[in-house]
Amino acid sequence: MVLYFSATGNTKYAAEQLAMLLEDESLNLLERIRNGDHSAIFSEKPFVICSPVYVCELPRFLTDYLKKTELCGNREVYFVFTSGGYTGVGGILAGRLMKKKGMIFKGYTELKMPRNYIANDTYPELSEEEIRKRIRNASGRIPVVAESIRKGKILKYRHVWLFELIVTVPFNPVWCRIRQSVKPFHVRDTCIGCQKCAKLCPLNIIRMEDKKPVWTGNYCAHCMSCIQNCPVCAIEYGKITQKKKRYHFRKYGKDA
Ligand SMILES: Cc1cc2nc3c(=O)[nH]c(=O)nc-3n(C[C@H](O)[C@H](O)[C@H](O)COP(=O)(O)O)c2cc1C
Ligand code: SF4
Ligand code: SF4
Repeated sequence: MVLYFSATGNTKYAAEQLAMLLEDESLNLLERIRNGDHSAIFSEKPFVICSPVYVCELPRFLTDYLKKTELCGNREVYFVFTSGGYTGVGGILAGRLMKKKGMIFKGYTELKMPRNYIANDTYPELSEEEIRKRIRNASGRIPVVAESIRKGKILKYRHVWLFELIVTVPFNPVWCRIRQSVKPFHVRDTCIGCQKCAKLCPLNIIRMEDKKPVWTGNYCAHCMSCIQNCPVCAIEYGKITQKKKRYHFRKYGKDA
């Protein structure tokens, strides 16, 4: 069984391709995460968990979900990350988590895909050419990853240095606290009240009031699902997202 969360389609694409090549099923975890549904998941074949990388790790809500959910049947588990190019300590922490659950961790790999984090000015926007190149390269690697999994091999990625653990493990919560406030989210008058943003939020923190979204709470996962999936690009995050192009895998597709 291929399990996945995806905000802007990169991971969904990787998961669905892997499931097809492995002749297995894929399961989108969004509704389970939103509803706090921790009912056990059974898989005859090894589990393959596909996830974006958030601040050098698995998304925290996905870690929490996996901690509480029993994976039964096959004991083996692989991780496949999609990222903007740096998975950091994500694979190491995922391995630890799975070992604690009594699973057999079969390693992880990373597919470098277009970055979707537009509420962040750390990196320049990618050119159309670079976006397409990344998708093409990732598409080419997926069958290789699938073949390794099919043969039961351990997925080997790069060595993670101790300093990466020392720097990124404390960095992640600090970033989330300082940079992931929901306050800058606002909606333009062009909003058509379709509720898509509210339905896609993995944390379920967007409420509709007078047919407009309202972000509740203080912080969120910054997954970018609301902002990137709005059909009329009505959502902004402070001034950071103004004039920035929106990204979703579906705009490019596998034939990028
Ligand atoms: C909050 C957030 C943090 C991110 N942090 C990283 C990161 O540390 N390293 C990286 O390479 N990419 C990072 N990214 C980029 C995503 O991992 C990447 O674009 C991913 O493929 C998106 O997957 P999706 O389209 O399935 O949602 C981040 C994206 C978001 C939204
Ligand atoms: S997805 Fe966009 S148009 Fe739809 S309710 Fe949310 S902000 Fe409005
Ligand atoms: S509010 Fe938007 S960015 Fe934040 S977790 Fe929900 S969907 Fe993701």
